[in-house]
Amino acid sequence: MILRDSAALRSRVTEWKKTGASIGLVPTMGALHEGHLSLVRAAQAECARVIVSIFVNPTQFNNAHDLANYPRSEAADVALLAGVDGIFIPTVEAMYPEGYSTSVQVSGLTDRLEGAHRPGHFSGMATVVTKLFGMSGADRAYFGEKDWQQLQIIRRFTQDLNLPVSITSCPTLREADGLALSSRNRRLPEAARLRAPRLHAIMQETAWAIRAGRPIAAALTAGEADLEAVGFGPIDYLACCDAQTLMPAREMTPGQTLRLLAAAALDSVRLIDNIVI
Ligand code: PAF
Repeated sequence: MILRDSAALRSRVTEWKKTGASIGLVPTMGALHEGHLSLVRAAQAECARVIVSIFVNPTQFNNAHDLANYPRSEAADVALLAGVDGIFIPTVEAMYPEGYSTSVQVSGLTDRLEGAHRPGHFSGMATVVTKLFGMSGADRAYFGEKDWQQLQIIRRFTQDLNLPVSITSCPTLREADGLALSSRNRRLPEAARLRAPRLHAIMQETAWAIRAGRPIAAALTAGEADLEAVGFGPIDYLACCDAQTLMPAREMTPGQTLRLLAAAALDSVRLIDNIVI
């Protein structure tokens, strides 16, 4: 069932809640792929009712060209979601009516990595996710680990604002050649698509080098050079960080979990990925 505004969503959820049903929410921007569907399956395994939202949120795009070119495929998306209880597809006007004036700002975690390269992105994301939590009355919400920094920020503001939603994360799904599934992959020209898996391969080589004791700074410099050599550029970052705080790590410390995160363009398509070290 497609629901196009918050009143329709609210009345549906109210009915479900009367029966004591737990509500799972999978927020998406559409152009669905197997990664999104893995979130839906995780939600269906844990929740009596599952809502998937499809909304290309303009406030999290810092680049008008990127927003205009973001893939949109509503009919195909709806067909893929045949088994879910509600598909929430609001308009921009329904989400941000005239006079709308509120945003959610998370400090610290949002300053680095994606935040440094995409001003305003995380505030737009945090705002729309907070709105979706409120509109859906969800008990649980599901996010992919592919957007690792986004996931840490969502956990942070959910806790800081005492939002009554439990956050579940699901692992990144990959093509057989290692490329992380992403809606943006469909914008890769054929030749670039063949080179794109090198991002993950070079990240793995960098992680192995760090684990084997190579100084982190030297391993990152070598990794960036390897990415440039296969045609990535600009490379926004290849960074080794504490997995939760995302503060840069200078050395391996016993007991600390590190994450390697990267963002780099290939043929003007910006790809991001992250792996555990
Ligand atoms: O990860 C995404 O697709 C978006 O950032 C999200 C969480 C749906 C918010 O618009």
